[in-house]
Amino acid sequence: MARFTLPRDLYHGKGSLEALKNLKGTRAMVCVGGGSMKRNGFLDKVNAYLKEAGMEVEVFEGIEPDPSVDTVMKGAEAMAKFQPDWIVAIGGGSPIDAAKAMWIKYEYPGITFEEMCVVFGIPELRKKARFCAIPSTSGTATEVTAFSVITDYEKGIKYPLADFEITPDVAIVDPELAETMPPKLVAHTGMDAITHAIEAYVSTANCDYTDPLAIFAIKMIQNDLVGSYKGDMAKRASMHNAQCLAGMAFSNALLGIVHSMAHKTGAVFEDLGAHIIHGAANAMYLPKVIAFNAKDETAKKRYGVIADYMGLEGTNDDEKVASLIKYLRGMNDALNIPQCIKNYGADSYSCEQGFVPENIFLERLPEIAKNAVGDACTGSNPRAISVEEMEKLLKCCYYDTEVDF
Ligand SMILES: NC(=O)c1ccc[n+]([C@@H]2O[C@H](COP(=O)([O-])OP(=O)(O)OC[C@H]3O[C@@H](n4cnc5c(N)ncnc54)[C@H](O)[C@@H]3O)[C@@H](O)[C@H]2O)c1
Ligand SMILES: [Zn+2]
Repeated sequence: MARFTLPRDLYHGKGSLEALKNLKGTRAMVCVGGGSMKRNGFLDKVNAYLKEAGMEVEVFEGIEPDPSVDTVMKGAEAMAKFQPDWIVAIGGGSPIDAAKAMWIKYEYPGITFEEMCVVFGIPELRKKARFCAIPSTSGTATEVTAFSVITDYEKGIKYPLADFEITPDVAIVDPELAETMPPKLVAHTGMDAITHAIEAYVSTANCDYTDPLAIFAIKMIQNDLVGSYKGDMAKRASMHNAQCLAGMAFSNALLGIVHSMAHKTGAVFEDLGAHIIHGAANAMYLPKVIAFNAKDETAKKRYGVIADYMGLEGTNDDEKVASLIKYLRGMNDALNIPQCIKNYGADSYSCEQGFVPENIFLERLPEIAKNAVGDACTGSNPRAISVEEMEKLLKCCYYDTEVDF
């Protein structure tokens, strides 16, 4: 038996933020990030709509990018005081993910972070509150997914929480919120979205319900991401939908080792002054992982279907896989994303020597590889991977060398 779960209601299109007026409740806790939603007037609109719905509103603000366990605990305390029956999270993946984890802790004050991390082990929610998510970036699709990614900064590791319990009740996908994204954010979140769609399509948990969402999202992202990056707002709006479709696919089909690697490399070089931004990590690792996974016959065929659907060249699956890899690397170039960690600068742009020196990378590699293999996303990757192979693959991602194993 397989399960396919999405939010009960999804409002989309310009101005759909107004759907907040339809929520029925008494107290809404609005969770938001660092300030872009406030600066651009969206937070005021959210508050006004919720008040129009007859609710008392309190705002929990300042949720940082790649939210910490600490922030989750603070937010849950604020919820315990205010006792909301709606949690409304607005912003990028970070504030929405943090709010999902706060929600668990609010409903179960005794639960520890370790207990929350048990995959598909989250206890039944909605005894205290329901959840509405409003994304302002076009990538994570957390507004429709069963996931939340929280960083433990003491360990330097990102933990994906996973359970359909945290799939939001309502998603509002209003493209106006994405219009203010700077190009770099468009690039990173967009490559995150195409990674979701491609990983979902080849995942061992793919099915008839997830395939159409994944493959159509890939085509839309191929058509619209670079244009959106260059400032075309019609394409920006289309990308907001495309990332959401990709999310519907991967929330139900799961992901693969591109994400395992991104989760375990994202914060581990934090002490050197920079994160490897999630979407950029995916963009660099995806072509390498495709080369690795294509050694599996079923995965190779599926990459071939993707290449066909994208209209890429190739008369057999090997050629199609090569075309797909070439195309994705071309997207990285067009979006100013480096091809490997060695060239990943602290500003995320390509440079001769990035912020992760070779000796530090090699020193931390065994631990990163072990953690990546143990990540929750590894189980649904189409080809099994050992810690030794993961080390080799990560080296290819560091030096931009060919994957021949
Ligand atoms: N839950 C999931 O299913 C899932 C999937 C993939 C990634 N993630 C996680 O999501 C996080 C990344 O989320 P993200 O990529 O959406 O970025 P983010 O939420 O971390 O935001 C990045 C920056 O962009 C700013 N910003 C957000 N929207 C803006 C807008 N419209 N205009 C201007 N600035 C804006 C934010 O203030 C912030 O400074 C990572 O922690 C990643 O691991 C979660
Ligand atoms: Zn992702």
